[in-house]
Amino acid sequence: MGILIKGGTIVSASGSKVADVLIDVETIAAVGARIDATGHRQVDASGLLVLPGGIDVHTHLDMPFGGTVSADDYEWGTRAAAIGGTTTVIDFALQSMGHPMGEAFKTWRAKAEGKACIDYALHMAVTDLGPNDAWLDDVDAMVAEGITSFKIFMAYPNVLMVNDATIFKLMQRTATLGALVCVHAENGTVIDVIVQQALAAGHTGPLYHALTRPTIAEAEAVHRVVALSELAGGAKVYIVHVSCEEAMREVAAAQARGLPVMGETCTQYLVLSIEDDMGKPGFEDAKYVFTPPLREKRNQAPLWRALAENTLQVISTDHCPFRFKDQKTLGLESFTRIPNGGPGIENRMQLAYHHGVNAGRLTLERFVEVTAEAPAKIFGMYPKKGIVAAGSDADIVLWDPAAEYTITAATQAMHTDYSIFEGFQVKGNARQVYSRGELVVDGGKFIGKVGRGSYLHRGVPGR
Ligand code: URP
Ligand code: ZN
Ligand code: ZN
Repeated sequence: MGILIKGGTIVSASGSKVADVLIDVETIAAVGARIDATGHRQVDASGLLVLPGGIDVHTHLDMPFGGTVSADDYEWGTRAAAIGGTTTVIDFALQSMGHPMGEAFKTWRAKAEGKACIDYALHMAVTDLGPNDAWLDDVDAMVAEGITSFKIFMAYPNVLMVNDATIFKLMQRTATLGALVCVHAENGTVIDVIVQQALAAGHTGPLYHALTRPTIAEAEAVHRVVALSELAGGAKVYIVHVSCEEAMREVAAAQARGLPVMGETCTQYLVLSIEDDMGKPGFEDAKYVFTPPLREKRNQAPLWRALAENTLQVISTDHCPFRFKDQKTLGLESFTRIPNGGPGIENRMQLAYHHGVNAGRLTLERFVEVTAEAPAKIFGMYPKKGIVAAGSDADIVLWDPAAEYTITAATQAMHTDYSIFEGFQVKGNARQVYSRGELVVDGGKFIGKVGRGSYLHRGVPGR
């Protein structure tokens, strides 16, 4: 007996249509008008949108960072993702300096094992090419393991930052393989100087995290990494968490020159700002200390437009949660010791739908594209993921466009003692979520089995 989802509006990047969807165990067996219901369990989806499960390509679950570990492990992070309508995450395995990439791969697979509630894939964050660059060969080995995207940090000196030579060598290798280089673009060394000057002037509060990381430092890094990719023979580049108009314009300029440069922004940069969300009393601003920082409100409209016009291809979260009471407070004496990151995996689809579709900034089809279809294509998972079509995994969200919901830490599944979107009211929410054919969320409750998520072996797009 299959599951027959009847009469919903199926949405993809290319259009919307009322049709039925037949699920056979883990996959979609058929999509069509009036599929015969005989022998199948029927689910009435009239009035609902039938969306491909969301894909969040930028998460940090169970990640050691800033002297602590991010507050959501694979169980709690993926549970929260599912509740919000996301059925696939791509998390970052972090290579430790002095250790080959394969170790990080094993470590992150072990973190997910028995815990992931939805399917997950990994990027490899590269910090060290090893003795005589011997670990460049790890790149090939990782591609063989299904890791086809490699992250480099141009920020966080002495922690994760790599220099231009490392970026260049990595890109020469990824260019030959067709793999993608994901970039945290900020000029880390210059920011470090500005930070030291702020501290010397006695500015130690959380607001100074934002004030010491100017937009031009992000734009400069985008410009530089694009040049490096061109020098390296046209390596494919994906700029993560583009936070401001200046950086987005560098992405647009690269694309205008025909270079293979793509980018994402995150929900926080689209709906929060320095003016609206920082400058709170006491240490409250620490909740909003993430990197890049919140920007001035003037950046929001250009980022939305960039999404609508395909300068930016993806909305992700950069979900990297830290509790306020015992983690953010590590930086009470100095903003430099506040663990960088914020929670958001649960709210991405709600915020993108409400502030995107309801507000007239994104069409419904573009919403599906930036939250599911484009991530699947860019990161080598399409058409297994990212579309409601025969043969694809039955990762399906029954989305109620009329459901009203208020985001609050009091009811969230994420393991933080606050929400950066506290009190935000949204219209449109996931009613039911299927992950590979299994109903895992019903009415906002996770009802799936913990640990049921599988590791996704990704391909190299176009090969
Ligand atoms: O503040 C952030 N974004 N923390 C996670 C690490 C990163 O830079 O993505
Ligand atoms: Zn980053
Ligand atoms: Zn990140």
